[in-house]
Amino acid sequence: MSGENNIQFQRKIIFVESSSAMRKLIANNLELYTGSQVICVKNSEELSEYFKSGESADLIVTEDMVDGEYTSLKVVYFINAQQLEIPVIVMGQNPKLEGKATLIDRENWRGLVKEAAKLLGVTSEVMMEFIVPEYYPFQMACLLTMTKVPVDLYLDEDDGINTWFLAESQINRQKIEDLIFKGTHTFYVSRYQRLEFVNFLSTELYQLLNDPSLTFQNRVAVTQAAMDSSCFLIEQFGLDKKSIQTTRTAVESFFKLALLSPGLDDLLDVLSKNTNSYTYKHSLTISIVGHLLISKLQWGNAEQQKIIGLAAFFHDVMIADDRLTPIHSSQQLQDSTLPSEQKLKIERHAFLTSELLSKYPDLPMGTDSVILQHHGTLNGIGFSDDHLDNRLSPLAIVFLVTEDFVHRILATEAPDKMTILHEMSLKYDKGQYRKCFEALEKAVK
Ligand SMILES: [Fe+2]
Ligand SMILES: [Fe+2]
Repeated sequence: MSGENNIQFQRKIIFVESSSAMRKLIANNLELYTGSQVICVKNSEELSEYFKSGESADLIVTEDMVDGEYTSLKVVYFINAQQLEIPVIVMGQNPKLEGKATLIDRENWRGLVKEAAKLLGVTSEVMMEFIVPEYYPFQMACLLTMTKVPVDLYLDEDDGINTWFLAESQINRQKIEDLIFKGTHTFYVSRYQRLEFVNFLSTELYQLLNDPSLTFQNRVAVTQAAMDSSCFLIEQFGLDKKSIQTTRTAVESFFKLALLSPGLDDLLDVLSKNTNSYTYKHSLTISIVGHLLISKLQWGNAEQQKIIGLAAFFHDVMIADDRLTPIHSSQQLQDSTLPSEQKLKIERHAFLTSELLSKYPDLPMGTDSVILQHHGTLNGIGFSDDHLDNRLSPLAIVFLVTEDFVHRILATEAPDKMTILHEMSLKYDKGQYRKCFEALEKAVK
């Protein structure tokens, strides 16, 4: 973490925490707001090893319990036995530690950061100096139902990122609609308030996406916010209750957009005005084109359209990053300058996503194999060199042909549909692939 912000750390915090998601959130905030180096250890044994190696620290923050053991008691006992005189903050309420450590509720991570700053003697002026802003974009349309903003919001203006609304400020639909009308589609939230904002937004999105007065264009924008939130929550926490709830909202909106069946040109027009996220654009376009393609297949039915929609939503959820999602061949992967761990992630994403989805409730049968095989390999690892492999499931073939088309369409600003279809016609000249191509041609012409 230390290289990221180029800060010369003057203090060290040892953080004992077993959950990786909490560790990331709290460690980031502790580092940011106290300008300290945060060293994470998983349990009291690792903590004692750290001190035994001759290292020191200015503060220890520990979970109350790890794996059914009172880690906090062990940590405080160790510090006292070694006469280290280092303050300890315990995340949790343990009566046995009253007066011996500072106790703070596990959920109150803001309070925790404040208390850490106090114990380290970091004043609020000093805290400000450490703030390294980094902002995440959200679609303006997702504020349409909000009356109050939950966190500080920022706009990207000519002179840089500026505060737009402070947390708790009032906003109204008219104000937001005016801005969207004038062409401002994005606002920003600080990296350290992103989780809080996404949590708040998840509840709002459900209400907003069920609003019958939502226009097609706004639905496209809000669905992106829902998909982004879903990907972010899945990345942080896996498929837990909250991320499943947000994901369902987003997936249902994918279906609604496909049922509204805009023609390809109309869809691309709306997308070009609404978003520059490749990941979202390609997933939504696959869902809508795939839906149309199936309607042109002799054996196509509504259940299969549902599966294609779900697969379009989920297939790249593990690599939801615009630098990664356009890669769809071994050659492109080899030629990319991405770090090796990112390359590995791309190679394995189809397999990992199909594994992840085993936890998603009521997934229609066959969705996991479409996701597993969406780059043409039967085991979901890497990319296939055989573009006519007939061992793949028929719906995986539909997906592959559709995604190929969508990648080609989105590769340029003014795509030439006829040339693309001609090239694909030469490529998919046999068996199921040919049938899918012919259905595609009917669907988009
Ligand atoms: Fe993809
Ligand atoms: Fe993919």
